[in-house]
Amino acid sequence: MNEKPTVERIQLPAKNDFFTDYLALARPVVVQDFFSDDPIRDIQTSEQALEAWGDEKFRIRPEYVERFMSNRGVSELPPEPIQHLSLSEYLDFTKSQPDTRLLCTEEPLTEIVRKSFRLPEQVESLIDPPITQMFFGNRGNHAHLHFDGDCRHGLLYQVYGRKRILLVSPKMQSRMMPLGLVSGWFINRLSQSERTALTDFLEGTWVTINPGEALLIPAFTSHFIEYVDDAMSISVDFGRNPMTRRLHDEFPHTRHLQLVGSHLLDAEHTERLHPGFEKELETLCYSLPRDPEVRREALRRMAARLHGETTESSRLEELFLASQRPPESQ
Ligand SMILES: [Fe+2]
Repeated sequence: MNEKPTVERIQLPAKNDFFTDYLALARPVVVQDFFSDDPIRDIQTSEQALEAWGDEKFRIRPEYVERFMSNRGVSELPPEPIQHLSLSEYLDFTKSQPDTRLLCTEEPLTEIVRKSFRLPEQVESLIDPPITQMFFGNRGNHAHLHFDGDCRHGLLYQVYGRKRILLVSPKMQSRMMPLGLVSGWFINRLSQSERTALTDFLEGTWVTINPGEALLIPAFTSHFIEYVDDAMSISVDFGRNPMTRRLHDEFPHTRHLQLVGSHLLDAEHTERLHPGFEKELETLCYSLPRDPEVRREALRRMAARLHGETTESSRLEELFLASQRPPESQ
């Protein structure tokens, strides 16, 4: 595996240092000994999770892109119904069907899980409370290459098993064949040599996280995730500022959200580089009509202004949008 040693491993820094050295720079990092004083750290294997949380129920379904393709009839695999299973039932199920596509992704935590840790002050904010979510799945499962439309940073805490993650900068969007939040690259279907070539093309970085570690996936950074083992993670999503929160609340979640948002992680830096931008964004939010077409175009213009016209194009998206329009408007 082409895993360049470019993601540091650190202890959680003080709040200001964490912001200045990592969040503001969109710099991924692995935080070791996360939740170090909390009961959740006693759970580091699937057996321990079964003992502590075996009866907790979660929604189980295929990964987003797999589900979308199956439901549209464009996958070789049929749609699978959403189920509600306890962790114990899911682990039994994966023993009998180790290749299943079903997993738990982005589900709210149950109370008993939520009570097993306390959030550190580094993720607290008066603007926007952090959100915690559950993920577990079987070895070989994956999450397609995408960026998160919630515009928050994510700390992906590994409970048991390992995950391997490819991280790609928003600057590489035009190479990602973007379509909305997702990339056109199906990394799970590539051979090892194809993965290596794609990683070089995207200037991506692979990192593996182990139980007890948390990976900072900065807001707007694209990520592909694969389950090296049967594995469980809890995500802590946090850290929107007034500008990224506005983007999220007021504009359609197109790929341009990534291009614009990635420029707005540090409000002071944005103001130095683009004086008046924050005020302009605020004015656009209340002056533009609610029509999504108008707001989509306004977001595209902001992206072109911040990134330049050439990095803004997506042939894949042009083809898709053209296919969705009625014939007379094409
Ligand atoms: Fe994500």
